[in-house]
Amino acid sequence: MKSNETMRTIEARRSTRTFASRDIHEDDIISILKAANQAPSAHNKQSWRFIVIRGARKQALASLVSERAGQFGKPSSTLLRMAARSISSAPVVVAVVNTGELVKHGTRSFEGVADISGLFRTMEIQSSAAAVQNMLLAAASLGLASVWLGILCLITEDLLMLLGVHEGEFMAVVPIGYAQRKSAAPRKKPLENIVSYLS
Ligand SMILES: Cc1cc2nc3c(=O)[nH]c(=O)nc-3n(C[C@H](O)[C@H](O)[C@H](O)COP(=O)(O)O)c2cc1C
Repeated sequence: MKSNETMRTIEARRSTRTFASRDIHEDDIISILKAANQAPSAHNKQSWRFIVIRGARKQALASLVSERAGQFGKPSSTLLRMAARSISSAPVVVAVVNTGELVKHGTRSFEGVADISGLFRTMEIQSSAAAVQNMLLAAASLGLASVWLGILCLITEDLLMLLGVHEGEFMAVVPIGYAQRKSAAPRKKPLENIVSYLS
């Protein structure tokens, strides 16, 4: 198999859930955000917003997630508590919010097409997912660790309120920092199980 720096970064990236107390350089955060903003987006709408959270607001986020965990049964409560610990230990957390601009644009431009807002909402989520993946890969390429915390979708309303976001859809929260320890590589399915070829 061919290898280069990009391929090695993709292979080496791991989800990391516990972070060292070391801070991240501001330049690295900007590089990660630029990489996220370079992702492909439907109609090039870039209908994502990135909120960089540090300090007291980050601790408030960790407390909110931990408090809300108690209102769910397992496994949600366990995952939310883990998420709260990741948020608390990472020096920086980036929240990703979809603005709804793509949905508005699509419903205007494709008026009369059935469930057009559903289609554009899907494409808005897909676009932001590409941005989040760029973020994770950029972090890995800079020697930083991260994890995509999707479980926070369980408490989106509270989250948006804490972030001061009054419009749009919650997409992801990504703690970023230096890994406290190396994460074990999870098993990935062999290609023959997931790929088929047609000709
Ligand atoms: C959409 C999405 C949501 C995820 N949500 C969580 C989460 O809430 N908590 C968590 O610890 N990991 C979460 N992960 C990370 C996955 O658990 C992880 O990617 C998977 O176990 C494979 O490990 P790897 O990232 O090291 O390859 C999420 C990943 C994705 C793509």
